Amino acid sequence: MSEKTMSKEDYLNKVQDLDFPDEQPKALQDTDFFTVAKERRSVRQYDSSYKMEASEIRELLETAILAPSSSNLQPWRFLVIQDQAEKEALLPIAYNQQQVMDSSAVIAVLGDRYAYKNAERIYSDIAKKGNMPEEVKDTYVASIMQNYGNFKEERLSRIAAIDGGIVSQQLMLAAKAKGLDTVPMGGYDEAKLKEAFNIPENLEPVMLIAVGKGAKAGFEKTRLPLDDILQWNKYE
Ligand SMILES: Cc1cc2nc3c(=O)[nH]c(=O)nc-3n(C[C@H](O)[C@H](O)[C@H](O)COP(=O)(O)O)c2cc1C
Repeated sequence: MSEKTMSKEDYLNKVQDLDFPDEQPKALQDTDFFTVAKERRSVRQYDSSYKMEASEIRELLETAILAPSSSNLQPWRFLVIQDQAEKEALLPIAYNQQQVMDSSAVIAVLGDRYAYKNAERIYSDIAKKGNMPEEVKDTYVASIMQNYGNFKEERLSRIAAIDGGIVSQQLMLAAKAKGLDTVPMGGYDEAKLKEAFNIPENLEPVMLIAVGKGAKAGFEKTRLPLDDILQWNKYE
């Protein structure tokens, strides 16, 4: 390691030493979508005495799962880690990021590579609602089973990761609209997570999301200017 780089754990935890203003996360009076999107920040310090009820977590997840997914196959699965003992087990796996302990819950967003096997169930529901004729449903399901069933594992993984990312963002925005804060985490050891939490082989971790009552605001937003990342119509 050169003098200028840090271990993964130091990199992820350095933020706790930074001396940024001691302000609380902004409490939103207005939960208009644009305000919520603007005000959500990754929050890494939480009020550890604040406990979320299972019903509050369920409400966030019910909103998150309204997100779009490839062929509406909804490959996302959620493991909610809330017990103290399980959080203690998670802490070293997530490179000792303190938000694991202090947030109300850590939600492991997982993606099922074989979610396409639910096609019949999902499309039958659509047909039952009268939103699709039975024969069209049969053709859709047969096509999904044929296509997804022949996709390489890598492609199924990619679909699970894309849909898992979309549902994750919807969850984080829902939390902000409810006066809560979140931080998405990719900093964890995937193999150890799967082993410690008995995650079935077909489910792959997309990210961990800590959720709770923020005690200190996250960084102010810094983004590349839109014009540096925007191209219209075609790259030259
Ligand atoms: C997939 C993903 C993984 C991330 N992993 C971590 C992490 O392990 N630890 C952490 O403190 N922040 C993590 N972040 C948060 C980013 O650092 C943060 O989103 C970024 O700095 C922008 O800040 P903002 O979320 O406040 O807008 C992650 C974000 C994403 C999208």
